[in-house]
Amino acid sequence: MRGDLERVLFDQPAIHRRLDDIAAQISNDYRDCDLTVIAVLHGSLMFVADLLRRIPLPLKLECLSVASYHGKAQTSGEVIFKVAAASPSGGGQILLPDVAGRDVLILDDVLDSGHTLAAVREVLEKTKPRSIRVCVLLSKKKQRAREVVTDYMGFEIEDEFVVGYGLDFRERYRNLPYIGVLRKELLEQPGK
Ligand code: IMP
Ligand code: MG
Repeated sequence: MRGDLERVLFDQPAIHRRLDDIAAQISNDYRDCDLTVIAVLHGSLMFVADLLRRIPLPLKLECLSVASYHGKAQTSGEVIFKVAAASPSGGGQILLPDVAGRDVLILDDVLDSGHTLAAVREVLEKTKPRSIRVCVLLSKKKQRAREVVTDYMGFEIEDEFVVGYGLDFRERYRNLPYIGVLRKELLEQPGK
């Protein structure tokens, strides 16, 4: 898999050092709060696992499954939440965590166009939490389709397609222990 990368951006020690800093900030800011962390799956899996083990607070963890890429390297703009149950009318219902009155911290792997986090934030706001903040491991320097304020951020990166440490291309590379830029020609190959 290493051969599929143009270059490595952040190795494991660099990621872990940055997580130490973010975890210290979060632990300080959420002292005496009713913290619920919402992990946006699947991309945030490694990030959430490593970050939360550095936060010694009595928090709750909930997960939301969301997709917007549908196997491409560009977002479709359409954010699909995993449907928990079909309603009698045939439509689906998103199973939302009960965060009413709680302090919510949304964790995602990367902020790109902004569609995903804007949609997740909107949906969670309807459930009346006490506060909502956003924490991302990576933020791409670019003009966004939807503006999203990030309260905590690991690294700012150029507008390039990256994989590893939870981030995928067509569901591969998530298990790389570091983050790197995928070779451009692989992005252009027809999907399998
Ligand atoms: P957005 O909705 O365009 O902001 O994209 C958010 C989601 O798209 C992230 O949670 C990722 O799952 C995925 N994504 C965006 N950029 C990348 C990338 O460079 N590599 C892998 N996944 C990405
Ligand atoms: Mg993805």
